[in-house]
Amino acid sequence: MQAIDLKNKVEIKWLNFIEHKEEIYKLRHTVFYEQQGIDYLTESARDENAIHLGAYYNGQLVSAICAYIYFPLDEICNQWQLTVPQNMVGHFARRVELPEFRGCRLAEFLAAIIWKSIHEVIHPDFLMITLFDTHKKLSFYYSTFGFDFLHEVSTTHGQLAIYATNKESIHKGISKSRTLCELLSAIFETEIPPLYEFLSKNEQLSFFNIENFKQENLYLNPISFKDELPRLSAQARMLYTFQKPLIESEDFPVGPANMLDLGCGPGIFLAMISNLPKFKDYHCMGMDLSPEMIAYAKLSYKKITWKVGNIYDTGLAAESLDVIFSSFVMIHLVNPELALKEIYRILKKGGKFYIVDINDSTFEGHPKIKRMIRKHAQIYEGNRDIMNILPELAEKQNFKFHKQLETLIENSGEEEKPEVSGNVFKLGRVKMWAIFSFISQRQQMKPYYSQAENYYFKTNCKISVKVQTQIYEK
Ligand SMILES: C[S@@+](CC[C@H](N)C(=O)[O-])C[C@H]1O[C@@H](n2cnc3c(N)ncnc32)[C@H](O)[C@@H]1O
Repeated sequence: MQAIDLKNKVEIKWLNFIEHKEEIYKLRHTVFYEQQGIDYLTESARDENAIHLGAYYNGQLVSAICAYIYFPLDEICNQWQLTVPQNMVGHFARRVELPEFRGCRLAEFLAAIIWKSIHEVIHPDFLMITLFDTHKKLSFYYSTFGFDFLHEVSTTHGQLAIYATNKESIHKGISKSRTLCELLSAIFETEIPPLYEFLSKNEQLSFFNIENFKQENLYLNPISFKDELPRLSAQARMLYTFQKPLIESEDFPVGPANMLDLGCGPGIFLAMISNLPKFKDYHCMGMDLSPEMIAYAKLSYKKITWKVGNIYDTGLAAESLDVIFSSFVMIHLVNPELALKEIYRILKKGGKFYIVDINDSTFEGHPKIKRMIRKHAQIYEGNRDIMNILPELAEKQNFKFHKQLETLIENSGEEEKPEVSGNVFKLGRVKMWAIFSFISQRQQMKPYYSQAENYYFKTNCKISVKVQTQIYEK
């Protein structure tokens, strides 16, 4: 049977169960009952409080999956002998696709999306699947997502095998689901809808505390403020060295005006640019999610207003800012769309949004070092290639793209003083490596990091990466 060409023809949606119940049950009935002769899998009392994902082709639901979420005191945790969780447990179930879509990788795409999204937004303690005898042959496939056999429990429908991730294997699954999401959304030319947005609009699922998600700091999660401060300080000074001429040659609204640096870290970059003559009559504010960063900034730079706050929900008045800066923050966000929405809301008409970030897809260097960078992108959340898609995301929020500037950061092969020449910023070997040194703090990355680091310091190799500046207007 030839696989149907789904390029550009399939739409992926999170489904409100009440609204889509009939479609979901019809699809399950066709697949489980009519095709496989199983009569107990079509409906579940838990469906109403589950998270459902579906794929549509020509307006018809052709594939679906759902995640049941169990809370620690849920009787099922006891019944299925699950190690008592602190947070929630995500149980992926009822993966179905119409027979004519087999081989199209649609159901695989849905599984990868639900895996990645549930992990990123809900942070369950562990993820699980359950398989009855008829489906046990799938267990090998699921093991590639990090599910290990736990035990079997007896149910009215027979022996049910439970497979779950643990702390170690969860990373295998994250890596696999991210890679698949990227690959399959490119193959199908379709977008992955954000789970966060769906949950925040869906009253029936309001028991998920979405506020937790907003409070997440992907940047600081794996590292401590104390360890990171010296690196951040050096980075902010470097940033200023090559940003100063770019900012000086750009037109900004004439003061008095309001400027905000979102995700300002310890405030060093904002403090430096606030002293440029063109911002003389500006009121400057720095905001960061980390109270430690803001405490440091408050102590160091008294003329600027500093606030602890969130890029997704700043609490600032609509259309109150003339200029918004954000440097090295977008790559660390799970939901850049939501951040862009908030930035658009608080920016005045005619205001400027000035964003700077590294773009790892521009990295050039020996394959050993390239491998470390790609591996990091696969395992850890955030998106270090975000600058490639930001213009598209920003346009969706109605921003007008003004321009993009690029700075090539490269090591000179020698130990030299940093030097800017046009759009090339040359760094000595040690300073250049420091750009990637945060990778050493991530548990999963240790072997790749030490291989790359050894190679880098034993040879005279050159590496380079681009930092891109994009300017948008409202
Ligand atoms: C790599 S640092 C960049 C700091 C500064 N912009 C610079 O260029 O030196 C990323 C910063 O983003 C902050 N951050 C992460 N998630 C955030 C969020 N949701 N809202 C606000 N700040 C956030 C972190 O606390 C951290 O200070």
